[in-house]
Amino acid sequence: MKISMIGTGYVGLVSGICFSDFGHEVVCVDKAEEKITQLKRGEVPIFEPGLSTVMERNVTAGRLQFSTDLSSAVADADAVFIAVGTPTRRGDGHADLTYVMAAAEEIARALTDYTVVVTKSTVPVGTNRKMADIIRRTRPDAEFDVASNPEFLREGAAVDDFMRPDRVIVGVENDRAQQVMGDVYRPLFLRDFPIVFTDLESAELIKYAANAFLATKISFINEIAALCERVGADIKSVAKGMGLDGRIGNKFLHAGPGYGGSCFPKDTSALARIGQEHGVPQHITETVIHVNEAVKRRMIDKITDLCDGSVNGKTVAVLGVTFKPNTDDMREAPALTIVPHLVGNGANVRVVDPQGRREGEALLPGVTWETDPYIAAKDADVLLILTEWNEFRALDLSRLAGSMSNPKMADLRNIYSREDVLAAGFTAYDSVGRKS
Ligand code: UGA
Repeated sequence: MKISMIGTGYVGLVSGICFSDFGHEVVCVDKAEEKITQLKRGEVPIFEPGLSTVMERNVTAGRLQFSTDLSSAVADADAVFIAVGTPTRRGDGHADLTYVMAAAEEIARALTDYTVVVTKSTVPVGTNRKMADIIRRTRPDAEFDVASNPEFLREGAAVDDFMRPDRVIVGVENDRAQQVMGDVYRPLFLRDFPIVFTDLESAELIKYAANAFLATKISFINEIAALCERVGADIKSVAKGMGLDGRIGNKFLHAGPGYGGSCFPKDTSALARIGQEHGVPQHITETVIHVNEAVKRRMIDKITDLCDGSVNGKTVAVLGVTFKPNTDDMREAPALTIVPHLVGNGANVRVVDPQGRREGEALLPGVTWETDPYIAAKDADVLLILTEWNEFRALDLSRLAGSMSNPKMADLRNIYSREDVLAAGFTAYDSVGRKS
């Protein structure tokens, strides 16, 4: 099959590369020339474990190409995927569909034979139908169908999520489009991964509902964590005890400094808007957003308390600033709320992150970047763990405590135990939802 992928952001690039690994002929298209030049040189512009190996394999096999020329990529394709950005529109929380609609119009002009135009971008309910209207208006003679195929991959585990998904969701309007989409995902179907065919609106809503539900689990456990602290319970035991109930499940019940990233914050706020617009307010999702903001503020209070009421003049060594490990992505990371607060209140902040510096430098002015946790912690007052990178999970705690001027730890990902930290010489330890 011939596939074009429009947009080489996170979702577009991973999907395009992985489709070529299924054996399809794929052209990934982007307007950004420098990005395409970089890809043609064999460089992957995002940090995603395993992606460059799959890319190299398929470029070598002649199945994967990169181009700025949308028209020729679309002309031969059986399926054209739109994977351009849908950022939150400034001011109203809505998903900004400018790029999606512009892509649809451009694709329409380039269509030749029957083609399925598929949205991979996360788009509000009704967008696929609007897109079909645009294509029809631009090219009344074109033979096409639209399909909604939301993506569920996680940054840092994207290749595996794509190749071994929990499910594939495809919204279509007729058998012909379903046949094409079935062929696109045939390798997964043969390996028994579930493919759910549904209508366009349901597919669009599944994506928002799934992300909002996962965000709900996180906000829920973060609120329970605050209660644990007050009543002397331990969030890890509580989450484990809850999660062993198969109806609840143990995933996404890790308490922490709040969810971040390019998806949960954007999609929860878009779902809240969609609900309001249709006169069906999504109260739970609205509260989830509110709780997530409150969690970040609660984390600031914790650090301030460890500093005896003021961070002014204190040295804080921050381990991890990306929104989660195994990514260089800083979008909506809790660090973007917490670190500027510390700097703004007179703390001397040193940051270590295995991948975050490139993006983080511009976003976190006033901090000093270090590459080694032990150097960052030297003479510091507080060691603050914000992202649970593997390299921070087995630090030599005695060495750290011995070099700090006032060894205290705020472990906002609960990766250490209080007993171990205090036994190593730290004088205070605080975490999330556990005894401090
Ligand atoms: C999320 C979803 O997990 C994917 O299924 C979805 O495809 C993607 O959004 C998207 O819509 O594109 P991602 O944003 O890459 O993926 O990251 P997650 O691993 O879901 O983590 C999101 C945030 O939640 C992180 O800040 C993480 O630290 C936080 N989190 C996650 C917790 O605080 N606790 C948990 O138990 C799990």
